[in-house]
Amino acid sequence: MDKGSLLIRGGTVITATGRSEADVLMRNGLIEAVGPDIGDGFGAVDRIIDATGHWVMPGGIDTHTHLAHPIGRLGVMTADDFYTGTVAGAFGGVTTIVDFGLQEQGGTLDAAREHRLGVIDPDAVIDFGFHLIVTDVNEEVLAEMGDLIRSGFPSFKVYMTYGDKKIGDDDLILLLEMAGEHGGLIYAHCENDCAVTHLIERHLAEGKTGPAYHATSRPPAVEAEATNRAIMLAELAGAPICIAHVTSSGAAQHVADARARGVTVVAETCPQYLVLDSSVYDLGAGCEVAKFVCSPPMREQSHVAALWEALADGSIQQVSSDHAPFRFEGQKTGGCDNFTQIPNGLPGIETRLPIVFTEGVVSGRLTPERFVELTATAPARIFGLTSKGRIEPGADADVIVVDPEREVDITASVLHSDVDYSPYEGMTLNGFPTWTISRGEVIVDEGALTAKRGRGQLVDRAPIDPVTFL
Ligand code: URP
Ligand code: ZN
Ligand code: ZN
Repeated sequence: MDKGSLLIRGGTVITATGRSEADVLMRNGLIEAVGPDIGDGFGAVDRIIDATGHWVMPGGIDTHTHLAHPIGRLGVMTADDFYTGTVAGAFGGVTTIVDFGLQEQGGTLDAAREHRLGVIDPDAVIDFGFHLIVTDVNEEVLAEMGDLIRSGFPSFKVYMTYGDKKIGDDDLILLLEMAGEHGGLIYAHCENDCAVTHLIERHLAEGKTGPAYHATSRPPAVEAEATNRAIMLAELAGAPICIAHVTSSGAAQHVADARARGVTVVAETCPQYLVLDSSVYDLGAGCEVAKFVCSPPMREQSHVAALWEALADGSIQQVSSDHAPFRFEGQKTGGCDNFTQIPNGLPGIETRLPIVFTEGVVSGRLTPERFVELTATAPARIFGLTSKGRIEPGADADVIVVDPEREVDITASVLHSDVDYSPYEGMTLNGFPTWTISRGEVIVDEGALTAKRGRGQLVDRAPIDPVTFL
């Protein structure tokens, strides 16, 4: 079936490995040609976009989003469903997400996969995959993993803390061994559960119950210890591992040290840890602080600086959003008097690329190529999205066209998530796309959404190659 053609003409094409003045021709959902002055040799096209003065880059890949994600303990759901969340993503230059499918206690991973597909498929406007969150490890679950990996679901999320989702080290070892054997990847939220539980109890007993105490109940050592433990267990099992949302210099150093001794570990951080710091937990701010409650929490400036260094020197490989949006009124405010009742997480799918672009590229900390690597090419490589994250013939035609000079003043109403605040209120950001293109179709066209609900497709993901994914 003819799915049409599109020529992006006159822009600067930026990939993870270089930049050039080049046109990009797309046909039937794929990139057909990239080069200077393409046109005549390739026949008629349905549409030409004049990208003069713009940067043409791979669409963003966000491998850590929580859309329509239930927090069972609190009886709430993240505020975005797969429509609002993926629309927000499209406006922020994201063309693929990898979300999560939660295994019910006593349920199978296969059931979790089927259920989640039914939730995502009717709503997503961009392409999607999902990691299966393993919460209940048993013989049946371990036996399912090989087939899941071979059928396009190679990554499994585990929580080392977090109530009913938590698994212990004994189960983590079993999962790592099974993943290592079959080409799978364990993706770990690393915080020491005993320490977190103890510190929360101590805070509550001392009457330290306001939102700001969330942060002091989860200090950097809690994260660094669990990160090191997860890495060491992966090393023992001979399996690759991906560390979710690194926030502290200690955790980042454990990743760097392990990589230096040959362990197959990769790591991500998120924009909130790069542009916010622990001052958001100012005790005087009252319940407003709840807007910034996420786990791990934001850290002091020395950690922020260490994360930027780790992104620039390659010891952290990707930036994802950990988009876990909750409304302030009615959701976050449920915990004004008890921080344990605040749903954890921040909205961020739409601002991820602009934040890394502005604070990374515009500020001179990262090259444009490194920006593409961190936000598109590396996430694709790490999580088996072999058709995505590149601008080259044969790849999916997922492209963003960005005017690097255009600035947007951030406030909740200019963003598209179903939340009533932005953690980045008052910031001015570059890097929003003028056009977002998914499989050759323009889905955001100079500020207008042109995507149909449900057009997003499940992406077939390949097993993990522990050598190339590094
Ligand atoms: O606070 C956060 N990050 N909430 C989302 C759940 C997760 O993955 O930690
Ligand atoms: Zn997490
Ligand atoms: Zn998360």
